[in-house]
Amino acid sequence: TVMVRRRMKGRRKWRRVVGLLKDLEEACETPLGRLRQMVDAIAVEMQAGLVSEGGSKLKMLLTFVDDLPNGSETGTYYALHLGGSYFRIIKVHLGGQRSSLEVQDVERHSIPTSLMNSTSEVLFDFLASSLQRFIEKEGNDFSLSQPLKRELAFTFSFPVKQTSISSGVLIKWTKGFAISEMAGEDIAECLQGALNKRGLDIRVAALVNDTVGALSFGHFHDPDTIAAVVFGTGSNACYLERTDAIIKCQNPRTTSGSMVVNMEWGNFWSSRLPRTSYDLELDAESMNSNDMGFEKMIGGMYLGDIVRRVILRMSQESDIFGPISSILSTPFVLRTNSVSAMHEDDTSELQEVARILKDLGVSEVPMKVRKLVVKICDVVTRRAARLAAAGIAGILKKVGRDGSGGGRRSDKQIMRRTVVAVEGGLYLNYRMFREYMDEALRDILGEDVAQHVVVKAMEDGSSIGSALLLASSQSVQTIPSV
Ligand code: GLC
Repeated sequence: TVMVRRRMKGRRKWRRVVGLLKDLEEACETPLGRLRQMVDAIAVEMQAGLVSEGGSKLKMLLTFVDDLPNGSETGTYYALHLGGSYFRIIKVHLGGQRSSLEVQDVERHSIPTSLMNSTSEVLFDFLASSLQRFIEKEGNDFSLSQPLKRELAFTFSFPVKQTSISSGVLIKWTKGFAISEMAGEDIAECLQGALNKRGLDIRVAALVNDTVGALSFGHFHDPDTIAAVVFGTGSNACYLERTDAIIKCQNPRTTSGSMVVNMEWGNFWSSRLPRTSYDLELDAESMNSNDMGFEKMIGGMYLGDIVRRVILRMSQESDIFGPISSILSTPFVLRTNSVSAMHEDDTSELQEVARILKDLGVSEVPMKVRKLVVKICDVVTRRAARLAAAGIAGILKKVGRDGSGGGRRSDKQIMRRTVVAVEGGLYLNYRMFREYMDEALRDILGEDVAQHVVVKAMEDGSSIGSALLLASSQSVQTIPSV
């Protein structure tokens, strides 16, 4: 009878876990109808954000970029990119033709967490010293190809209210950054100050959001590129908008009649988003609660933590994982790259899943548990990828490239080839995310339209693209600020 009782108890525990999994699946559902509602909501919010300042949770920030690189740029430029988890320094040489683009040096480092909560002086001096080392490594080789005056593009992956293509103030930190008293500071000035202090002869000549860098890179290679999306630690998109549609901008004088708009889509919100109790907890405990709701469902910084919260809850309500692990109770210990490693584990025994769970302090990892965890990863990542696809379709709708021309027969003929540049580790390194996203985008748009839409992955596009943008802005007059 003891055995029977034990078995009964075991079943009850599994039943509880199965129940929690079912709840999760239901709460994360993204049927096509719901995705289409998201698409409409995003297009509507974009419009509202363009009409007036604060008109929407989508900030729709002006970038003062009206002309994108086309391949004819020349010169040598540096770019420094502060992302959410990494920073990169690169040097590019442009010879006036697409094929002559040379990325001469690339350095990539992860950002120490201590830096994200430090002070503005510490952060900018760290960036300046890294750049100094990079330049010193080049040696004193002042060959002819060396520019007389060094120019730098600063790719800054946070929301900035730009006042020109080379200046702007931080609106607020996002992702894991929380350095106080920096909102309202001119970011390019901060970096320039730190460079000057170190006696570095280099000018911060462009301040660029990472999405805008990716768009520039995309456009340099393919002029049909009209939007760019970053799926990295955070998530965001920018696109080319007609200046007459940017109603909040009183003085939309651009030579091209269009301007790149940084949506800051991470802050998109709709009551129709499929939110779970885990999302609510994550938001409440985050450094920026009530902000960046969309980013917290699709950003690489958060997917691992959602999965962790589900496993933790299950292990609190049953003993199928063994005793509750204290490691598992630590926010952000489960990284999204571990989620992808578990999700894509193709060993017959799911050894990778077992290894990662053991690292999290989970002592019981029978096959049943491993499969359960893979399923959780699948549910969380699939939701993220499908919402991301709805975001892209929302942009296409806003610019009239989603084929919804009022159902006219001529739709097919007027549908132009449209390229969306995509950058960021989540998309580049997580195959299942990519596949789910591509599939959802095809489903939302329908085959007839989808065949005209190309989603192009571009590694290091944000950093290189900012240097290209700087090069192209050298030949164009800067637009007066409004
Ligand atoms: C966050 C930032 C945004 C950036 C994105 C991707 O959402 O607010 O500016 O583009 O992360 O790095």
